[in-house]
Amino acid sequence: MRLEIGDWTISNLQSPINFLSITATAPGKVILFGEHAVVYGQPAIAIPVSQVRARATVVAGPQMGVRLVAPDLGVEKLLFEEDRDDALATAVYLVKAATNLTHLPDMTITVSSDIPIASGLGSGAAIAAAAIRAVTQFVGYGHLLSNEWVSAMTYEVEKIHHGTPSGIDNTVVTYEQPVYFVRQQPYNRIETFSVAKPLTLLVADTGVRSSTREVVGDVRRQWEADPARFETLFAACGRIAVAARQAIEQGATAQLGKLMQENQAVLQEMTVSSPELERLVAAALAAGAVGAKLSGAGRGGNMIALLADGEDEGGKTAVSQALIAAGAKNVLTTVLQ
Ligand code: MEV
Repeated sequence: MRLEIGDWTISNLQSPINFLSITATAPGKVILFGEHAVVYGQPAIAIPVSQVRARATVVAGPQMGVRLVAPDLGVEKLLFEEDRDDALATAVYLVKAATNLTHLPDMTITVSSDIPIASGLGSGAAIAAAAIRAVTQFVGYGHLLSNEWVSAMTYEVEKIHHGTPSGIDNTVVTYEQPVYFVRQQPYNRIETFSVAKPLTLLVADTGVRSSTREVVGDVRRQWEADPARFETLFAACGRIAVAARQAIEQGATAQLGKLMQENQAVLQEMTVSSPELERLVAAALAAGAVGAKLSGAGRGGNMIALLADGEDEGGKTAVSQALIAAGAKNVLTTVLQ
């Protein structure tokens, strides 16, 4: 028997657990406004990119222990509870702790993803969210799987990837909805918002891999060295994100493009842009995009370009070709609606 329920595929060939195979997936994401500043409590906006996804499939056995197989990375290994630096071991044993299981059944977790790693598209968060969902379902605790619970568990794994995550990545890849997000106590502010007109965004990859942990750590060092200057930069990003939400809600695409330029200028001042990102931003604007900026941690990874309202395939192709000519390794299209 094979059962498809939303994001889930459950193949249960003849019942007992040995034949059970659970698959869960989670999307990539892009940050539209407010990266870095969001770590310091400023608002940010992010959207899922559903056409690139991470997948985790769990089957029983065949050996003792919890085995991880990541064919794309050539990884095959056992995951141990004490592997605190390993994101997937952390994900699996968080599930064990949360379910109060004294022992996990023998299992093999196969993960794959078409979200490029270290590119600002949330690959780490998506793999963790998919694995947490699949393992929790596999051990028989599927009733725990609310978005809130998966997001909180994924946040714990994100700490391994980058120390002081804001929580926006785990939120977007888990809820798979555009969010307006503010990191705050005791609960983060997570809001959806209306989109007056569909917005077409191109997502272009510089091909340069960049470690979110390192870039976030470097911004922190700069903030510690000159708090007043960095607080001003973060506050500017916050104001831009608030104005951007209004522009999205009012269908003011040209205004949104301008806000992307403003946000990019502040990110440059934070030193998180790079020559490759600048080249792609300039190329997109020259080819007719109404706004363009880096997305995510920066110093590599992806940038986004916003097309003018009602842009036909010709306009989209022109911007896409300009991005490729300026060095983009891949260009995706995503529509916010
Ligand atoms: C990473 O996708 C976004 C950053 O703002 C870090 C974070 O929010 O945790 C750079």
